[in-house]
Amino acid sequence: MAPTFLGIESSCDDTAAAVVRGDGTILSSVVAGQTALHADFGGVVPEIAARAHAEKLDLCVEQALEQAGVTLDALDGIAVTAGPGLIGGVLSGVMLAKGLAAGSGLPLVGVNHLAGHALTPRLTDGVGFPYLMLLVSGGHCQFLLVRGAQDFTRLGGTIDDAPGEAFDKVAKLLGLPQPGGPSVEAAAQGGDARRFVFPRPLLGRPGCDLSFSGLKTAVLRQRDALATAQGGLHEQDRRDICAGFQAAVAEVLAEKTRRALEQTQAPVLAVAGGVAANQTLRSALMAVAEAAGARFLAPPLRLCTDNAAMIAWAGIEAFRAGQRDGMDLAARPRWPLDSAAAPMLGTGKRGAKA
Ligand code: KG4
Ligand code: ZN
Repeated sequence: MAPTFLGIESSCDDTAAAVVRGDGTILSSVVAGQTALHADFGGVVPEIAARAHAEKLDLCVEQALEQAGVTLDALDGIAVTAGPGLIGGVLSGVMLAKGLAAGSGLPLVGVNHLAGHALTPRLTDGVGFPYLMLLVSGGHCQFLLVRGAQDFTRLGGTIDDAPGEAFDKVAKLLGLPQPGGPSVEAAAQGGDARRFVFPRPLLGRPGCDLSFSGLKTAVLRQRDALATAQGGLHEQDRRDICAGFQAAVAEVLAEKTRRALEQTQAPVLAVAGGVAANQTLRSALMAVAEAAGARFLAPPLRLCTDNAAMIAWAGIEAFRAGQRDGMDLAARPRWPLDSAAAPMLGTGKRGAKA
């Protein structure tokens, strides 16, 4: 019998709970976002996030169980994100999961949030190992070679901002609404990507590392140069800047993906994270996968962005591999998936880099 797990996620700005069966059936997936709470602050405020998680978590769990039509005693285990992320939120989730596990006697499994993203193509498409995962979101950007449910090799990642952060900052610079990704993409549609040629950071450096913070500064300089020269920005200037910026992001991500596929010879390229919704990026990645003879996999967006179904699933995979955690399960703000890889430095607006 396939095990059925409750998953709990609260590591960033989405409070989520889900019930998933080991055969890949998602019985329920509840996500309560916090966008409105942080809207005035230009980023996620950790203290506000933690309080909102503490308030909403039990409600999300109740809803997830109700929508799945199960009670706790019908479950085989509880999986919870134990890191990396904003510590207050992670703690809220871990404490709730411990309480539920202690009360019900169900096994407890602590899950790495990044493993949740990285194993999603197995939940959605049943893909076998190995495969290459490109994780591109507002908080993360890394290439992972996934060899097993607990065997990840990090090939490279951003040395500063995540690409979603760059989209959000560019939108802010140009007075476009948040979240920046969709508004920059929409503005870019009527733009000329060749009018402003922005830098392709780290393109000349060997390997798969990326950088997005200089690109954002280049956009700021271009905006200011136009404002000085003509007294402000025309609608078409905005469109052209967005198109040029998006082209630069897509080109560096595509080239680094080409290298990662060449290096690993992985038969499948999978993507996850909110930025994977970007059509220009998707087409560029599809072309790279096709040229390398690899299958391209993009899970549906609701499972690409933060959710608890991926945590329940990663919990099931870890449970099948024999993992059981006790009441000493720790909440970890930093938790690299690949402990052999060089640590990522710095702190993004969505918490410490993993
Ligand atoms: O994975 P996600 O929902 O959440 C976290 O990172 O926690 O990703 C959100 C990010 C935001 O920065 C948003 O601007 C970006 O994904 N995003 C996009 C698009 N849709 C969302 N970036 C580029 N193009 C899009 N269409
Ligand atoms: Zn995430």
